[in-house]
Amino acid sequence: MNETALDLFLTEQITEIERRLPLHLNSIKAPRVLKDAMNYSLQAGGKRLRPALLLATLKGYGVSLERGYDTACAVEMIHTYSLIHDDLPPMDNDDMRRGKPTNHNVFGEAMAILAGDALLTYSFEVISNSRHLTDVDKAMLVLLLSKSAGPSGMVGGQVADMEGENRSLSIEELEYIHDHKTGELLSFSIEAGSLIAGAGKEDQAMLRAFARDLGLAFQIKDDILDIEGDNEKIGKPLGSDKENEKSTYPKLLGLAGAKDKLDWHINRAKAYLYKTEKDHFLLHELTDYIAKRTY
Ligand code: IPE
Ligand code: IPE
Ligand code: MG
Ligand code: MG
Ligand code: MG
Repeated sequence: MNETALDLFLTEQITEIERRLPLHLNSIKAPRVLKDAMNYSLQAGGKRLRPALLLATLKGYGVSLERGYDTACAVEMIHTYSLIHDDLPPMDNDDMRRGKPTNHNVFGEAMAILAGDALLTYSFEVISNSRHLTDVDKAMLVLLLSKSAGPSGMVGGQVADMEGENRSLSIEELEYIHDHKTGELLSFSIEAGSLIAGAGKEDQAMLRAFARDLGLAFQIKDDILDIEGDNEKIGKPLGSDKENEKSTYPKLLGLAGAKDKLDWHINRAKAYLYKTEKDHFLLHELTDYIAKRTY
């Protein structure tokens, strides 16, 4: 198989992120079991898409990746916390994640909740302590990340997702859920990259619009994979949405309709990307990767 520039970038940068995540955890003074529980889910793999989006944005501006690694690790920590909590019995009640038993199945529910809490709060410490960011950038990143992850962001989306169970939702309600539970952290990653790179206001606005479509496309694909994914590859239980009576695009529009909607968002995302000042080649390739991914 021919390795593409994106394959090389992902291999290199995922290795780098996976080298740095445990270094961050090692420096924490905390009970052993808590660090083990945090480490278990962080080290379990995953696509590392949010760090990749942040670093690809920096690369598009020709900025040293060193300036982005701490924030890239921080967003992966918040994402991992959201997955630990998402899998808990009162939420999606799933037993496998990233090809391994879910955090609560190994450490118990109380420790899983606390490991999630710890990853969430520690991510802000990582950004605030970074030696590679200016104080102004740190303050802006902390504000942006707290908004993206909090009640008006990802947590708000998770609440709407839970409240939407066993009901039939309108497309607008479903879009709110996708935009928030998933889109917000993906958008943060791209916005954080453009902020650290010091991109102009117009570029930042264009990348924000790009990220919104990318986020929606990403979650539509997640919903499609929940139906027709390969269990071995995907590392989490298939059919979880149906079991929990979630509203999803395939449920609302049918599988073919959901695929059309996915293509529509992918194309609009690319149209926004073409309007930026720089040639964001890696972001363009990542957009196709999101549409075609099989896990
Ligand atoms: C899963 O995210 C949860 C959603 C927001 C749909 P990912 O598909 O990025 O999960 P990992 O990080 O690769 O495990
Ligand atoms: C989860 O959405 C989004 C967050 C964890 C914020 P899903 O519930 O669809 O994610 P998976 O399918 O369990 O990964
Ligand atoms: Mg969920
Ligand atoms: Mg889930
Ligand atoms: Mg899902």
